[in-house]
Amino acid sequence: MSPFLLTRTLPEGATDAALRADVLRGLTAHPKWLPPKWFYDARGSELFDRITELPEYYPTRAEREILLTRAPEIAAASGARTLVELGSGSSDKTRHLLAALRDLDTYVPVDVSESALTQAGAGLLAEHPELTIHALIADFTAALDLPATPGPRLLAFLGGTIGNLVPAERTAFLAAVRALLSPGDTFLLGTDLVKDEATLVRAYDDSAGVTAAFNKNVLDVVNRELGADFHPGSFDHVALWDRDHEWIEMRLRSRTAQTVKVPALDLAVDFAPGEEMRTEVSAKFREAGITAELAAAGLDLTHWWTDTAGRFALSLSTAR
Ligand code: AVJ
Repeated sequence: MSPFLLTRTLPEGATDAALRADVLRGLTAHPKWLPPKWFYDARGSELFDRITELPEYYPTRAEREILLTRAPEIAAASGARTLVELGSGSSDKTRHLLAALRDLDTYVPVDVSESALTQAGAGLLAEHPELTIHALIADFTAALDLPATPGPRLLAFLGGTIGNLVPAERTAFLAAVRALLSPGDTFLLGTDLVKDEATLVRAYDDSAGVTAAFNKNVLDVVNRELGADFHPGSFDHVALWDRDHEWIEMRLRSRTAQTVKVPALDLAVDFAPGEEMRTEVSAKFREAGITAELAAAGLDLTHWWTDTAGRFALSLSTAR
C-alpha cells in the first residue's frame, strides 16, 4: 500500500474571507471586476469541464497532444523524483507525465479543492502502487510550504492558467516558483499562444453558450456565499481580444440600470446600463516573451514544444 497524505495549509474559513475581500474590492472599483478564481464552485468546475470539450476551445486538446508526445522527453530532461503540480484539479493530464517519470518517488498535487485532491488521489494510487502522494490543500497564488521530498523536483503548472495573472502578478508568481526549486530543478509551464483574433474570441464565446453560463456562474457564487441578489439573466457575456495587452478579457455587461445588494458586505452596488465588469483576463504568449519572463525569475528555458497546429506551448526551464 502506498501512502496518501493530505495537508491543509489553508486555514478553515480562509476561502470565505478571501472571497469577501475580493468582492468588496472589485465591486467598489472603477471599472468593476471580480477575480476568475471564484468561477470554480461545483457547478463552475462542471461548466469548465464542458468548456474543455467544446469544438471552439482548443487549449486542453492541444496541451494533451503535447503531453502525450513529449512526456518521455520531459521525464528524461527533468529526471524528477518529485513532481509538484500547482492547480492539479482532477490530475487528468498528469497521468501522461506520471506514466513517463520512471524515477518518480512522490507526487505533490496542490489545489484549493479538497474533494478534487482526494478523488484524484484515490485513482492515482490504484494506478501507481509505488508512488507516495502528498496532497496539499493550498492556494498556489499565496506562499507555499512544500513537504520535504527527494529531489530533483519537477514543478508543473499546466492548462494555461498562468494567463489569469496580469504581468505584475506573473512576475511575483514566477519568483515564488523559483523559490520552491533548487538549482537544476525544472519547471513545466503550459501557455496558450497569440493567434488570430477570431479563433481566440470563439474559444471564449462558444456557440453553445457554455462559456457564457460559466461567466455568469460567478454571480451565483456571490449570491450564494454573500447573500447578494444578482440576476445573472440581466447581464450579457462579453469576450474580447485586447491586442495591446495580448489577452482575452471576459466581462459581464449590465443590460439595464440596476442596484445589486450584497448583505454580507453591507454593500449596494449600482450598475449603469451597458456597464461592463471584468471577470477574467486570459493572457496569450509568445516564445520570446515567456523566455524573458522566465529568465528574469532565474529560470532558463531549455525546451519549447507546441502542438502540431502551433496553438499552445509547453516549456521546460531549469532553475539557475
Ligand atoms: C483555466 C484559466 C486556463 O483562460 O482559458 C476557459 C479558463 N475561461 N474559458 C482559460 C477559461 C473561459 C481557462 N483557464
